[in-house]
Amino acid sequence: MNQIEEIKRLKEEKDAVILAHYYVEGKVQEIADYVGDSYALSKLATTLSAKNIIFCGVKFMGESAKILNAQKNVVMADDSADCPMAHMVDIETIEKVRSENPDVCVVCYVNSTAEIKSHSDVCVTSSNAIRIVKALPNQKIFFIPDNNLGHYVSTKVPEKDFIFHDGFCHVHKSINKESVLAAKKEHPDALVLTHPECTFDVLEISDFIGSTSEIIDYAVASEKNNFIICTEMGVIYELGQKNPDKKFYPVSPNQLCPDMKRITLDKVLTALKTLDHEVTLDDGLASKANIPLSRMLELAK
Ligand code: 13P
Ligand code: SF4
Repeated sequence: MNQIEEIKRLKEEKDAVILAHYYVEGKVQEIADYVGDSYALSKLATTLSAKNIIFCGVKFMGESAKILNAQKNVVMADDSADCPMAHMVDIETIEKVRSENPDVCVVCYVNSTAEIKSHSDVCVTSSNAIRIVKALPNQKIFFIPDNNLGHYVSTKVPEKDFIFHDGFCHVHKSINKESVLAAKKEHPDALVLTHPECTFDVLEISDFIGSTSEIIDYAVASEKNNFIICTEMGVIYELGQKNPDKKFYPVSPNQLCPDMKRITLDKVLTALKTLDHEVTLDDGLASKANIPLSRMLELAK
């Protein structure tokens, strides 16, 4: 039996489903039952009936699936895959901003640890942040941890006052304006599709800004055939699947998230065999972190 057949057999035997983010390698996306962006994956976690969820993504995503779905076993395909941005803000900073701004709403990008979520008022992802921030009753927003996403949201919700944090995604930050301009020169008829974790000067020269799913949907709906992609390269797999006749160009070969790329078919197979690397969270922490995550799902409806 080959590796793929073995994965399929074990999924049945272990009553498991495989969830994957668009940034994992194409071969892993291919064997996943569901592939999505951060929002789609957390929403989906609340609807699954299988006993075991094998998560192909970084730690905060597996934690969110577990928090929203406490009775399920969530198993990380690689439990060392972690998003550096998730650790860039600390509780002391949140508490300091709260004490200086009693009416502030702490808006937490899901790329954060469960502990940080438990000290926040609402979570957001890149596909629902604007809608949620608009819907909040608070005038003052402390947006953690991603500085670029926070600034992008603030341009779309100018009626509110923002306090920003200085977190960032090293993968999106590495996509610089000069390289995008060079790619535009090489492909003059291509549209630039960009994730809002990129820096402002890149957003400024983009034709469309959105989450990974929104970038995919935009390319599917577009009448154009050529696109420059300013996000992690894994997205190009799904773009190619859905648009076999269109062309997608990365800006540089470095648009790779080393943590997302830790997940391989071998590790998925091992996770199914052993069900090791289960996400475990203290009950008190999980129920506190569930409040902002569930509020996100409610406000994003
Ligand atoms: P989305 O899945 O919301 O597009 O976020 C991208 C990301 O960086 C996930 O780590
Ligand atoms: Fe974190 Fe960036 Fe990797 Fe997403 S792409 S997991 S934000 S480091």
